[in-house]
Amino acid sequence: MKHTIRKKGVIPGIMLLSVLLFLLIPESLQAQDGRQLFEKHCTVCHKIGEGKLVGPDLKDITQRRERDWLVRFIRNSKEMIDAGDPLAVQVFEENNKVPMQAFENLSGEEINSIIDYIEKWEPAKPVEFQVDVTKRDGFTEKEIMRGERMFYGLIPLENGGTTACNSCHVTQKTDTLNWNPSAHELAKSFMEEDGMDLYASLADPQSAAMQKAHGEYKLSGEEMYYIAAYLSNLREDTPKPFKTFPTRFLLFVVFAILMTLAIVDLIFTRIIKYRFIHGIILLTGIAIHFNLAVTEAQSLSRTKDYAPDQPIKFSHKIHAGDNQTDCRYCHTVADYSKSAGFPSNDVCLNCHIVVREGRNSGKFEINKIFRAEKSGKPIEWIRIHNMQEHVFFSHAQHVNAGKIECETCHGPVAEMDIMKQFSDLSMGWCINCHRDTKVNFKDNNYYSTYMKLHDDLKSGRIDSVTVEQIGGLDCMKCHY
Ligand code: HEC
Ligand code: HEC
Ligand code: HEC
Ligand code: HEC
Ligand code: HEC
Ligand code: HEC
Ligand code: HEC
Repeated sequence: MKHTIRKKGVIPGIMLLSVLLFLLIPESLQAQDGRQLFEKHCTVCHKIGEGKLVGPDLKDITQRRERDWLVRFIRNSKEMIDAGDPLAVQVFEENNKVPMQAFENLSGEEINSIIDYIEKWEPAKPVEFQVDVTKRDGFTEKEIMRGERMFYGLIPLENGGTTACNSCHVTQKTDTLNWNPSAHELAKSFMEEDGMDLYASLADPQSAAMQKAHGEYKLSGEEMYYIAAYLSNLREDTPKPFKTFPTRFLLFVVFAILMTLAIVDLIFTRIIKYRFIHGIILLTGIAIHFNLAVTEAQSLSRTKDYAPDQPIKFSHKIHAGDNQTDCRYCHTVADYSKSAGFPSNDVCLNCHIVVREGRNSGKFEINKIFRAEKSGKPIEWIRIHNMQEHVFFSHAQHVNAGKIECETCHGPVAEMDIMKQFSDLSMGWCINCHRDTKVNFKDNNYYSTYMKLHDDLKSGRIDSVTVEQIGGLDCMKCHY
């Protein structure tokens, strides 16, 4: 008998538990959603507890208004104002008659979760630390060492979290794209004026990317202190370059030795009887040395595939590819001037005043745009294409007059996360294209001076005109 009673108790127990779980989980998920929705749609115009922005401060709004009214207002306030809802009209007038945009694409559930988030919002509690949270300098050698070992995951963290920090925040340069800020970048941002507040950021991650990546950690104040010590020290250090195995150099040395031995044996020691072995070694050696010398000499001035680290991880794949932003939206002057130019901070801000967070990099990279704006300095993009002083090249001539696509010279830009130099920009490259490419000759006034070519075209003696024929191979056209 006891058995059955027990069993009867188990099943309702499980049911009760699942009901409880059911009630608990969706709520925490909802709170999360509410925060994300609020950050996505509302933070452009509203703050909570920090005063008026475009719209009024929303702190305690649920105590001042009915929920039902709020839902209708958020969905479409203009409709209510037009319909003469007295409260809506009053709010509208109190805010200098600036209307709020409608959110008809948000479901009732989503709007309610936003309101829940606003209702439950509390000012961030200052975290209690035993340590000096403003300290950025003057750590002892021992503290720095301890921080470094913590960062590398060699000292276990008090409250769990086993992934070493440096597995995401790398300390060495990598040759692939790493969307996480590198350790050096964290250090730089930490030490910069107006940079990150390390302690606040670690205690209460702000971006969805960081909430996800840092979910497993709950660092104690002391641990943060050691991490701060390590990062403050790292700032002085430059990132170690990514080392590839020096095969070419080794090849050079090995054949230098083999060739010397072969010559010595050929003339003095004569250990190896068969002369053709000496011959093979000498010939291959000379070929390899010659090849290395030539490629070295060429790479002195040419930088094909050059792809330096840019100050912001800007991806053409995301902007020109996924979001299909036109090249000329950012490289505005390509059609009219010699250079294509780089976009100013304002161009970035056109969109990023709203898009505050990236799918891959969180807030870290996009924050740099705002910091640059605040400091009043342009972002210092590193130039990749750099032709020598004595060569003249004009974008307007090629893009506007010649109607050549950007991709013909710059490659599949819309697929590049990291921009790199696609063509080698050698003289042969320019010349070859000028030999092969036909110009739009007929209805182009620019070429009205070429009377003979026009006559030849008309009489059918030639059926097209290449760049070469209009002087595209003249030294003076390209050289000052
Ligand atoms: C483009 C700017 C803008 C955006 C985006 C915006 N609001 Fe507003 N909001 C306003 C302005 C301006 C007012 C006040 C004028 C009015 O009545 O329309 C306002 C008023 C309100 C009010 C009424 C305040 C009161 O005192 O009764 C609420 C509630 C509100 N907004 C919530 C939201 C929520 C939630 C979102 C995000 C889903 C949001 N707003 C997005 C500009 C904005
Ligand atoms: C949203 C703005 C934006 C758009 C759209 C854009 N670019 Fe860029 N472009 C930049 C920025 C910023 C840089 C500098 C950073 C870098 O090199 O990645 C750059 C750099 C370049 C460079 C390298 C310049 C150099 O020598 O340093 C080329 C070439 C280039 N863009 C071509 C293109 C082409 C082709 C397209 C269209 C398919 C395009 N860009 C679309 C912003 C943009
Ligand atoms: C005929 C080949 C060719 C075409 C087509 C071309 N470029 Fe270039 N681009 C170059 C060369 C060569 C340079 C290097 C110029 C220098 O160093 O003076 C360059 C440099 C650049 C730069 C570096 C900054 C600057 O202004 O010099 C950007 C950005 C750029 N190109 C973007 C574009 C965009 C966007 C397009 C299409 C609208 C485009 N390019 C079309 C050959 C080309
Ligand atoms: C036409 C609008 C537009 C312009 C102009 C623009 N961006 Fe973006 N940017 C976006 C969008 C949309 C995203 C994608 C957000 C996401 O990850 O969903 C984005 C993402 C990013 C990211 C984060 C990438 C990631 O996945 O983490 C960075 C960094 C960034 N942009 C930098 C810049 C810089 C620097 C400029 C100016 C040179 C610029 N953007 C100009 C629309 C724009
Ligand atoms: C799984 C990858 C990952 C690991 C492991 C990781 N982080 Fe992060 N970290 C991120 C990402 C992603 C961000 C978010 C960037 C953003 O949105 O600003 C971030 C942000 C940060 C920031 C804040 C940057 C800012 O501007 O606010 C600090 C500081 C930081 N991490 C330190 C650490 C420390 C210390 C550890 C080890 C205890 C660690 N991280 C482990 C991925 C990681
Ligand atoms: C993809 C093909 C292509 C490449 C590569 C190219 N060009 Fe051109 N170039 C043209 C075309 C097409 C024209 C004629 C444009 C027109 O209709 O005016 C032209 C015209 C010119 C002109 C004007 C010639 C004249 O008679 O007025 C100069 C100067 C020039 N290019 C320089 C260069 C230099 C320097 C390079 C290499 C760095 C280069 N081009 C690479 C296609 C190319
Ligand atoms: C279509 C454009 C174009 C024309 C026409 C042209 N060049 Fe060049 N030339 C270049 C470019 C681009 C380079 C730079 C290549 C490099 O850096 O490897 C160059 C490099 C050179 C160099 C090497 C300089 C150095 O520092 O490496 C010499 C010499 C030279 N050109 C001579 C000439 C002479 C002579 C003519 C006429 C027969 C001529 N070029 C016609 C584009 C042109």
